[in-house]
Amino acid sequence: MRALILGSRGMLGRELAAEFPGALGLDLPDLDIRDEAAVRAVLAAERPALVLNAAADTRVDLAESDGAHLAVNDAAVGTLAAACRDGGIPLAHVSTDYVFSGRGTRPWREDDPVDPVNAYGRGKLGGERRFLESGVKGFVVRTSWLFGNHGPNFVDAILKQAEAGKSELNVVADQEGRPTYAPDLARAIRLLFEKEASGLFHFANSGVTTWYTFAREALRLALFEGVVVRPCTTADFPRPARRPAYSALDTSLYERTVGERPRPYVEALEAYVAARAARLSRIAPTTAA
Ligand SMILES: NC(=O)c1ccc[n+]([C@@H]2O[C@H](COP(=O)([O-])OP(=O)(O)OC[C@H]3O[C@@H](n4cnc5c(N)ncnc54)[C@H](OP(=O)(O)O)[C@@H]3O)[C@@H](O)[C@H]2O)c1
Repeated sequence: MRALILGSRGMLGRELAAEFPGALGLDLPDLDIRDEAAVRAVLAAERPALVLNAAADTRVDLAESDGAHLAVNDAAVGTLAAACRDGGIPLAHVSTDYVFSGRGTRPWREDDPVDPVNAYGRGKLGGERRFLESGVKGFVVRTSWLFGNHGPNFVDAILKQAEAGKSELNVVADQEGRPTYAPDLARAIRLLFEKEASGLFHFANSGVTTWYTFAREALRLALFEGVVVRPCTTADFPRPARRPAYSALDTSLYERTVGERPRPYVEALEAYVAARAARLSRIAPTTAA
């Protein structure tokens, strides 16, 4: 079953390549998903059994002042979905917890009302709707707080500061969500395909946390226990785009569909910290004899 991965050089795209052996991966500049004719030509030439769309413009803060994200996250999802529908090819697309307002007290379900608080979330919501209205086979997976081995992410940023010798860090403690390890999301997408899933799903690792607690756990697992982490508020770190305060996703539909629970995020974090340390030691081997 040959898959086509779009956005194959991104954090999720690279994990999808590992999860779908033999897949064809395309990314900018070789294929721009905004180019409908080019997308249709690739589908006609390659005739993939399924398409995985990990391509996105993920610059959340820039999206507030620059509408370029809409062409990728909104309009291109519609043309891609139509092209896949016309070719009879199932499509998996990835969306975000940022479609929710964040004003909630229990994890968000797929059918809860959406109300994005930033421009990026509105663009991603547009993409979801275009997918669902297109009639294409396949599914949309909303995910949250993604971290992984192939791209900038929160955990890497925290550990880099500790490695640079910072002894105190201020981390936001008033936003709650569910972290997601990119390899676990790639696996979840494979499992959903194997179940021929259709519609909208949520996937994240188990456990609701704050950025503050997540940072402390990452530092503990990376043996930086001496670094002091101080809780601070979102207001202490003004950013162009607002973030939802409570964006934990309810994954029970996913669990019922594939028959398993996502592993706890601390377990996934431990795997990430170990993989990151192994990668760094390969890049900078010690000079000891
Ligand atoms: N990261 C998170 O915390 C998070 C949270 C929730 C949901 N998500 C969703 O998860 C998915 C994967 O995110 P990610 O973190 O893996 O993103 P990423 O690392 O930024 O990867 C996205 C990839 O898409 C490529 N791309 C951008 N515009 C494109 C275009 N017009 N045509 C083809 N490729 C294009 C990017 O190339 P360039 O790098 O050259 O632009 C990049 O290689 C996205 O749908 C995102 O919205 C992410």
